[in-house]
Parts: sequence; structure tokens; C-alpha cells
Amino acid sequence: MENARSTYALLDQYEHRLKAVAGLLNVTENTLRNYLAESGIKVKRANADNPKSPAIRLFDLPKIFEFADYRRRKNSRGTEGKRPVVVAVEIIKGGTAKTTTTGELAVQLQLFGLKVLAIDLDIQANLTHILGYEADLSVEEAEKFGVSHAAIVTGTFATLCKPLLDRRRAVSVDAETLLKRPFGPFGPALIPSDTFFGDLEIAIATTQGPRELTFQKFFRESQEGRIPGLNVGDYDVVIMDCPPHVSFVATNAIAAADIIIAPVRMEAFSVKGLSKLITEIETLREAYPNNVRQPELVILPAYYSINLTRNARMQDKLSQYPGCVAPTLISQSEEFPKSLESYLPLTLTKPRCEAVKQYQAFADFMYKKIRERAKSQKTEGTLL
Ligand SMILES: Nc1ncnc2c1ncn2[C@@H]1O[C@H](COP(=O)(O)OP(=O)(O)OP(=O)(O)O)[C@@H](O)[C@H]1O
Ligand SMILES: [Mg+2]
Repeated sequence: MENARSTYALLDQYEHRLKAVAGLLNVTENTLRNYLAESGIKVKRANADNPKSPAIRLFDLPKIFEFADYRRRKNSRGTEGKRPVVVAVEIIKGGTAKTTTTGELAVQLQLFGLKVLAIDLDIQANLTHILGYEADLSVEEAEKFGVSHAAIVTGTFATLCKPLLDRRRAVSVDAETLLKRPFGPFGPALIPSDTFFGDLEIAIATTQGPRELTFQKFFRESQEGRIPGLNVGDYDVVIMDCPPHVSFVATNAIAAADIIIAPVRMEAFSVKGLSKLITEIETLREAYPNNVRQPELVILPAYYSINLTRNARMQDKLSQYPGCVAPTLISQSEEFPKSLESYLPLTLTKPRCEAVKQYQAFADFMYKKIRERAKSQKTEGTLL
């Protein structure tokens, strides 16, 4: 199919000007102009077709990631760790902005200069959607919507993990065939999800041995070159979007995580989900004292509204977790559900809006934390 889009995302509808792109990269406009001059990366001019219009530069989304990559190499902004820092976005409560946080952060951390692998661990496949793909789409449907075969989800993390659980029937799939790069080679990579993802839960539940350590084993084997088409050592950070309920998948993600981000909605039920999460971590550590490290917990207050009394009550509840609450918060904003319509994270559709600035402040905090973590892992020299 000619000119078919390779994702569902309306990529060609979004081009940003120099000021917005400098903001996304967190550099001054002059610095970005210098990158433009030195790097030789070509950027479109708005007046290419109409010489009478002003010569404004327009950066398409893949191009913005290309500049982030240029800056990464120029300023050594990666982690150079021996293995990626593993982040799970998790809380045992539905609808708290887990997926939104994973999607915005995956994009923002890549813009900050990290190589990001995002993994959708939820059968709802919402992260897959935010990053541009419709799960469970047939070839015929894809053609009808004007998207190419590249937009089809052909496998998930379950596809990659299942052979590890049953060596006898193992037919390993080349991970490269199912990995998605929605914003081109310089953007974050995604292992998508679809409705067959539930198979993984059953496969883990019925396996022999330490079931909760399957993901750890997967990451270790991947780094040792034993997972065809995927070496997690090529990435600075792996970020996993977890399902909202207790499951082997969620427990496995916790057991593999160096850092757990728990977005909490500013309401009482969310805080209950937090205490369930902490119990879950403790239970795991008791069961596997030699294999599961204490992950660092980062609580992110989300859906922050101007209801001052409720905020004060919630701040009070969160003060039970000293040192764990992120120094930034995310306000309630209708822009998030709106951006879903274009199958893109808000960071890329409205880079200058307040909610994006808030996620950028959080990404800056996480970027520093991930680099510190990678440095200490380097001296420890540990594998998972
Ligand atoms: N700060 C916010 N303000 C308003 N709406 C938001 C905000 N963050 C996320 N949303 C919207 O809330 C809905 C749920 O968010 P999201 O899917 O990220 O939650 P979740 O924790 O992943 O849910 P689930 O438990 O079902 O996986 C989405 O429609 C999303 O666009
Ligand atoms: Mg979700």
C-alpha cells in the first residue's frame, strides 16, 4: 500500500517550531540553533512551497528525537550502565494515570537523552494506543484505515516470555519483528500488548520454579544475548506499564524493578492502593530475600485539583511515606484524554501546555535518579 501510515498516530499533523522544540529538549533557542548548524540535520522550512511566507523552521516528531539523539552523543547524556535501570509504573488501583505517566515519561526521558524501551504489560493495551497502535487489528482492517502492516501488533511481551517458561516447546520469536518504533529510529521503542497478553498470566501460573522471577530471568537472558532480536543492554531504561490488579505479571514487574513509580490520584482509595503495593513488595522480599532487591518507591501525585481541603488531607496521608513523594505533581487536565484521539502522548501534541511542563519537571527528576542508579549499578557491577 503506497503512502500508508506506519502507525495510527496522526504524525504528519504535528510539526513544532523552534521555540517549542527547544522547550522539549530543555535547551535555549540559541543552543538549538547551534545544534542545527553543527549537526547537518536538515529541517523543513514553512515557506518551502510558498516563498512569500516567513521561513519558519518546522520540526516533525521523528526529527525532534533525532536532535535529542544528537545532543545525547554530543553531551554524553546516556547512562553507560552495564544494564538498564528497570522502572515499573505500578499501584494496585485502576485509573490513577499509570499508563499516561508511562507514555509521557517514555517520550520525555528519550528527549532528555536516555534510550528507552517501554513495555505494555496490560491486556487493555492502553500504552500501545498512546504510542500509536491499535491492538487486535487485522491486515484487512489496517488497509481500510490506511495504515500499513507495520502498524499491526504481531506479538507482545507474552510472545517473548513464554518460551522461557516452557523450554520443551520453545519456539523463540525474533523480538525485532514485534518491536515498534513509533517515532522512527531515534525515538523510544515499544513492546506492545494485545488481547492475547492474558496467556502470559496463565503460563506463569502453571510453570514450575520461582514464578515471580520470570521477568528477572527474561531481562538477564536478554542481556546475555539469549533472546533473539532483543538485548535490553542496548537501552538505558526499561519502563513497564503495569495492570491495576494483583497478578503474576504485576508481581513479576515489581520483582524486576529498581524503581517503582506509583501515581496516586488525590483521593483516599488511591492511598489504599499504595499500602497494598507496599505489602506486595514486602511479601516478595520475604519470599526471595536473595533475589529481590528493595526497589526505590517514587509516589507521583496526579489529577491534582484546586480542591484545597482535599489536597491538604491527601498531603497529610502521603506524609506517611517520607522521602518517597516526588517533588513535582501533575494537575487534573482535560488535555490528556483529548490527546488519546491522535494516538500520541500529550508531550508531542501540545509541547508547551502546563501539564506537559509538569511531566517534564517529573522527567527531569527521574532522569537524574536513573543516572544515579545506573552509576551505582556500575560500581556494583550487577546483573539483575
Ligand atoms: N492528570 C490528568 N488529568 C485528567 N485526566 C487524566 C490525567 N492523567 C490521565 N488522565 C486520563 O484518565 C484516564 C485514565 O488514565 P490512565 O489510563 O493513565 O490510568 P491507568 O492508571 O493506567 O488506568 P488502568 O488502571 O485502567 O490501567 C485516561 O483517559 C487519561 O487520559
Ligand atoms: Mg493503564
